[in-house]
Amino acid sequence: MKTYKIAVVGATGVVGRTVLKVLEERNLPVSEYVLFASSKSAGKKVSFMGKEYVVQELTEHSFDEEFDFAIFSAGGETSKKYSPIASQKGCIVVDNSNAFRMDPTVPLVVPEVNPEELKSHHGIIANPNCSTIQAVVTLKPLDDAYRIKRIVYSTYQAVSGAGAKGIADYQNGLKHYLEKDDDTSYLQKFAHPIFNNCLPHIDVFLENGYTKEEEKMINETRKILKKPDLKITATTVRVPVMNAHSESINVEFEKDFDLDELKNKLEHSPGIIMEDSPQTEDYPLAIYASGHDEVFVGRIRRDESVTSGINLWVVADNIRKGAASNAIQIVEKLMELN
Ligand code: A2P
Repeated sequence: MKTYKIAVVGATGVVGRTVLKVLEERNLPVSEYVLFASSKSAGKKVSFMGKEYVVQELTEHSFDEEFDFAIFSAGGETSKKYSPIASQKGCIVVDNSNAFRMDPTVPLVVPEVNPEELKSHHGIIANPNCSTIQAVVTLKPLDDAYRIKRIVYSTYQAVSGAGAKGIADYQNGLKHYLEKDDDTSYLQKFAHPIFNNCLPHIDVFLENGYTKEEEKMINETRKILKKPDLKITATTVRVPVMNAHSESINVEFEKDFDLDELKNKLEHSPGIIMEDSPQTEDYPLAIYASGHDEVFVGRIRRDESVTSGINLWVVADNIRKGAASNAIQIVEKLMELN
C-alpha cells in the first residue's frame, strides 16, 4: 500500500494540536510526519503517535525535503508566504487560513458538500471558515431539494476559535469577574471582556459595517454552494463558551417543502446528527458537540413569516469539524483520488 509523508505546520497552536490529535485517531497511511512551528517553538518536544517529535522551525527551505501533503494552521501570513513554496515543490497544501479561500483557482472544500472540487486543484486547497463549514453541511441537502433563496445567519461562536489568546482572555476574565476587578489590561485578543459578555465583533470591521467574519460566511457559502448571487446576511457574535460554535440559521426556499420530509433528508445526510425532540428538551448543545466531528442540527421549525422557510439550530466543534478534522478529511479524499 502506498504511504505518504505529511508536514503539520503550526503544530503547537490550538488547531495544530487538534490536527495531531485527529491524526492519532484516524488511521491514515502515513510513513512519516514532520511538525513545524515558528522559531519560538523550534526544539520543543511534542508527544505524538506514541513517539517524541521535535518541532522544527518553518523556513523557506523546509519544503526542500519532499512531502506529499502539508496541513497549514499557522495563520494567513504564514500560509501566504510558505504555501506557494510548498506547492511549487510538489507538496499538496491543505490550508486552514483565510489566505486563499476566495481565490477562484483554489478549491474551497467541505468533503460532505463539494468533494468533486478536489479533482482539479493547483497544489493548494482551502479549508473554509469554521462557521461556514457547519452551516454548509446542513444547507447543501436542503439546497439540493428545495433551492435556497435567502439565508440569515446569527452565530454564537466559542472563544477557542480566537486561538490561545482568546482562551486566555476568557480564563483571565473569569478570575477578574470573581475578584470584582474592572481592570481590563489583561485582554490580549478581544476589545472587551468576553467572560459574562457577548461581543458582536469577530475579526475586523469593514467599510460597510459588517465584520470580516460575516463577510467570510457570506462569500464562502456562495462559493461552496456554487450560488454566487445567493442572498445572505450574517451577524457573528463571540460568546463565553470555551468550544463549539452554535448558529441560528434562517433559510427561505424557492420550492415548498413538507417538514417531515425535510427533517428526514437532513437526518440521512452525511456528517449530520439530528437532535430535535422538544418534548424531551433535546437539541444540539455546544458542551456535547465539543469533541465530535459531526454537525448537530435541531430546533427545526417552519418560518411562519414567509411562504417557504425554516429555522435551524446548528452546533459543531469549531476546532475539529470547523478546522482540523475537515482538513484531514480533505487529505483522506485526496489520498483516495491518488
Ligand atoms: P508558535 O507556537 O511557535 O508561535 P494559535 O492560533 O493557537 O495562536 O497558533 C498559531 C500556530 O501558528 C502556532 O503553532 C504558531 O507557532 C504557528 N506560527 C505562527 N507564526 C508562524 C510562523 N511564522 N511560522 C511557522 N509557524 C508559525
